[in-house]
Amino acid sequence: MATITLDKIVKNYGAVQAIHGIDLAIEDGEFVALVGPSGCGKSTLLRMVAGLEDISDGRLYIGDKVVNAVEPRDRDIAMVFQDYALYPHMTVADNIGFGLKMRKTSQTDRKARIAEAAQMLQIENLLDRRPAELSGGQRQRVAMGRAIVRRPSAFLFDEPLSNLDAKLRVEMRTEIKRLHGLLGRTTIYVTHDQVEALTLADRVVILKEGRILQEGPPLTLYHAPANRFVAEFIGSPQMNIFNGTVRQSETGAHVDIDGIRLPFAQIAAPDGARVHLGARPEALSLCAYEMADVHTQVDVYEPLGSDTMVSARIAGITAVIRLSPETQVTRGMKLSLRLDRSKLHVFDADSGERITCSAQASGGAN
Ligand SMILES: Nc1ncnc2c1ncn2[C@@H]1O[C@H](COP(=O)(O)OP(=O)(O)OP(=O)(O)O)[C@@H](O)[C@H]1O
Ligand SMILES: [Mg+2]
Repeated sequence: MATITLDKIVKNYGAVQAIHGIDLAIEDGEFVALVGPSGCGKSTLLRMVAGLEDISDGRLYIGDKVVNAVEPRDRDIAMVFQDYALYPHMTVADNIGFGLKMRKTSQTDRKARIAEAAQMLQIENLLDRRPAELSGGQRQRVAMGRAIVRRPSAFLFDEPLSNLDAKLRVEMRTEIKRLHGLLGRTTIYVTHDQVEALTLADRVVILKEGRILQEGPPLTLYHAPANRFVAEFIGSPQMNIFNGTVRQSETGAHVDIDGIRLPFAQIAAPDGARVHLGARPEALSLCAYEMADVHTQVDVYEPLGSDTMVSARIAGITAVIRLSPETQVTRGMKLSLRLDRSKLHVFDADSGERITCSAQASGGAN
């Protein structure tokens, strides 16, 4: 069992700083997802934890021991990569047991551990095959088996599912979650797929250009993004972002988006401040004509079964609206829409940082 603590971790590649002093404390048994766009430093960070990459500055602790100078094989951590890296000439059983053999684990113990892992991964019937005779999902299971048999105190995953097709990815995602429940080991999981991060992790860490932009439980990031980048990165379809201006008066405040007035009890920004108003697709809903904030019409609609997504022009942008699947929608249909005040986000137009505001009436700070 292990906590993993990053204390001001820095990585320089020559003159280029890829990681800018990251602090992160991962609890024993916690599942943390590192997510962010390509090149933000996810793999670099993970490889430093694994010991495959030197740490330029800062300290890395596993438990209460500094491990900066500890060899990868002595860190009691197992890593699963995107490309599986299986040995083509070995059987599944030998692939899974190879690391144990290198560590001179006895044959009896090795056999028992391979059998146990194969059972966990439901690949007992594949143990005599070679990697070429397996599907992508099965190869991925073998790669996980190789990590599991080592009984490490922590697992590191770097985009383990990105070579699989969409359906299999969802299946294997459930599998990884089930295994984490079963084994309860500290896990760091790198992905650029925000859905994967949200569905798997206890805590999601969002990276951009080698820095943490926000970390927290999945729903905290979804409901209270700290800045516009996180707001747009998390959630699918993306949050709608409108250009707006804050108006302060004696009776309260409102955001004006292209002539549409959205009142708030208060907004922590001065009169005239330029802001971005964020509204997720479910923050817009159909309402009676006279109750509406905005009138528009359907450009495109996508019946997904569980929801119907509608695109429509609102305040100068093409906004996406999530409607219930029962709604009868046709192209060109007129829409009267309300923006749910408690689900709106206000960001500074220049810095992108969240601006504190509170909704009117029903209240509740957000
Ligand atoms: N060996 C290296 N030498 C120089 N620069 C590197 C090296 N490895 C990575 N980098 C740079 O460090 C930054 C972070 O790279 P990293 O591979 O960690 O990104 P990532 O978040 O894993 O991206 P992806 O989602 O594409 O895998 C990038 O700008 C990359 O170009
Ligand atoms: Mg990477």
